Amino acid sequence: MYKLISMKKKIIPAVIIAALFSSCSNKEMVKELQLIPMPNSIEMGTNYYNLNSNASIYIDNIELKPLLELLQLRENTNFTEATQKSSAAVIIEIDSNIKSSEGYHLSISESGVEIKAKSAHGAFYGVQTLIQMLEDNRLKEDIKWTLPYVTIDDAPKYSYRGLHFDVSRHFFSVDFVKKCIDLSAQYKLNTFHWHITDAGGWRIEIKKYPRLTSFAAWRGEKDYMKWWAEGDRTYVEEGTPGAYGGYYTQEEVADIVKYAASKYITVIPEIELPGHSDEVLAAYPELSCVGKPYKSGEFCVGNEASFEFIEGVMEEVVALFPSTYIHIGGDEASKESWKKCAKCQKRMRQNGLKSEDELQSYMISRASDILAKHDRKLLGWDEILEGGLAEDATVMSWRGESGGITAAKAGHYVVMTPGSHLYLDSYQADPATQPLTIGGFTPYLKTYDYNPTPAQLTDEEAKYILGAQANVWTEYMQDEDRVEYMLFPRLLSLAEVAWTNPENKDVESFKFRVSQHIPILQGKGINTFTLSDNIDITPTVDYEKKEIRVVLSSEKYQPTIRFTTDGSTPTKESPIYIGEFIVKDSTKVQAAIFRGDTVSNIISKSQLDYHKAIGKKVTYKNIYNSGYAAQKEANFTDGYKGGLSYHDGKWQGFLRDIDVTIDMGEVMPLSYVSGRFMQLTGPGVYMPNFVKVSISDDNKEFREVLHIVNDIPTDSKELYFKEFTGRFNESARYIRFYAEKHNGFLFLDEIVVY
Ligand code: ACM
Repeated sequence: MYKLISMKKKIIPAVIIAALFSSCSNKEMVKELQLIPMPNSIEMGTNYYNLNSNASIYIDNIELKPLLELLQLRENTNFTEATQKSSAAVIIEIDSNIKSSEGYHLSISESGVEIKAKSAHGAFYGVQTLIQMLEDNRLKEDIKWTLPYVTIDDAPKYSYRGLHFDVSRHFFSVDFVKKCIDLSAQYKLNTFHWHITDAGGWRIEIKKYPRLTSFAAWRGEKDYMKWWAEGDRTYVEEGTPGAYGGYYTQEEVADIVKYAASKYITVIPEIELPGHSDEVLAAYPELSCVGKPYKSGEFCVGNEASFEFIEGVMEEVVALFPSTYIHIGGDEASKESWKKCAKCQKRMRQNGLKSEDELQSYMISRASDILAKHDRKLLGWDEILEGGLAEDATVMSWRGESGGITAAKAGHYVVMTPGSHLYLDSYQADPATQPLTIGGFTPYLKTYDYNPTPAQLTDEEAKYILGAQANVWTEYMQDEDRVEYMLFPRLLSLAEVAWTNPENKDVESFKFRVSQHIPILQGKGINTFTLSDNIDITPTVDYEKKEIRVVLSSEKYQPTIRFTTDGSTPTKESPIYIGEFIVKDSTKVQAAIFRGDTVSNIISKSQLDYHKAIGKKVTYKNIYNSGYAAQKEANFTDGYKGGLSYHDGKWQGFLRDIDVTIDMGEVMPLSYVSGRFMQLTGPGVYMPNFVKVSISDDNKEFREVLHIVNDIPTDSKELYFKEFTGRFNESARYIRFYAEKHNGFLFLDEIVVY
């Protein structure tokens, strides 16, 4: 029985409570350990070991010395080095019987803490696990040094676990880059993809090409979006008053690479080509097709000097970065200038290249050859598949998974980083509550839901999936606080996606563990997002019983939710949500998180309608866009409303006017029709100009009953929802719903009929 803390003291951690109740399952107790990423095998014991601040630590190998120092530093302790294994409280040793080079064995028992690993790298992760246990306790003064008996045998699912950081759009200090690396290592990532060149500014000193840093690293405006979207996109000389930008000297780069290596993180630099190279061509315009600055962002592939430049840059880059991979970008190149360039066209003829895609492929292949001379391998965004993939190239799949799937099937290695789940520049909660971002919607549980191995791959093909990476693009992130806010807690999701076997992942457990890590991160001074107070109101339409079952959920761990179904705002007297409930007909559900008697300032609302048209047949004059088919012909009469994102399978998208007819099956009284649209002009989603509703008994002669004109400003960037609604008193069998397109896309989720 546990004896080390007196029960009358106020703060008793959940792990101890869990152990006191012997009925608690291993799974529950494991959850209470609060480890992220979840180890792949844990057996909990039923007792506790008491470490103390003067504990002695034994290491059996000089390579492990930094781990001793890490523990001493991180926990602010008086840990000492033990000279004798037998007297040590913590033993860290190399054990060649452990299979995985990144794996470790950690046991805590009556004899103390033991960490064994095949390599210092694995031992480092064992120490990180131990530190997480101590960090959790640190917040609870009484049991600061109490550790549960446990046996952990752990190894990562994927060998590539990465964070990508764009320091071109906005520039970040050496210290902050190191901080990102350190935090990545604490969550057992092993790769830092450093996006160090792009149009925002060249950020690495290359001695052979000094204009890259004396000119192409500086601009007159800090705010990237002001400079790029609204400004002149020009660079200024280093030292110009008010110039914004910067670069890392080769000494600083070497220092960062060495620092990362001490945390078992490989730094992969990205040197962008052939596109995203506006800054290079401003500094060295002779490398662009027209030989002038600011005319294009792509290297001239017909000009041999472009390859001499790449070769010169790579020579210095490989001397600084020992990584096997060098990332060459390859994304989003406009091939327009090549079409008009005599040199590029000549190159195509001479090499039998049939398209500009193949010309791009030619450049990538030559870059690959340059890297091969230095014994390095090429990594590139999935566009490098276009025009033929260079031999031995590894693909980073960002435009969804399809590039990764194609590459894996062709026997090329792949890193998965799809925008849908792993782009941390997108919103992590309702945009109305968040600072401006580039768009998209990726809450931390969506990132958590990601599986880097697509189901389409055979076991053999799946071996080519090296792992996963989260990407931080900084168009909208001007400072460190914002980067931290966008990184956390989603980096924790990525960490578990890349480390933990899918069968060992568990959303509820993860929510709990994240709820515990957020204050720990805050304690380290990190500006983490603290999760949304939004309540997801999830209906399930029961077509047989003609009712809607409703589940309320939060991305927070088990908050107190109170709700109403009568149109009123929830108060401290409203019922507490304990489980699914049923609504019929037309019901407005409102729900909010309560902390004691205090209601959150976010009230979640959803209008649920078991309306007359549910299950009725809809015919389309203009078909929906195949990319946003949602529930196809059933979508407008299935009872399901859309959420904040038009990707959620409930919103149907059109690039034409919407013109559909609902057959109610028989003539019946009709009094109300409503259709809800969304608008987000950034990605081209607009309200209709107007909605017209007409009715008919025979599907031939229609009479107009509603004409509703849009009143939402179509030049605003904000997210809007609008119901085009009206009442009338008629009888009919057919309802024609027509919405005139304004611009871009129309998105409609449901046509509600009473
Ligand atoms: C990318 O997001 N352009 C790779």
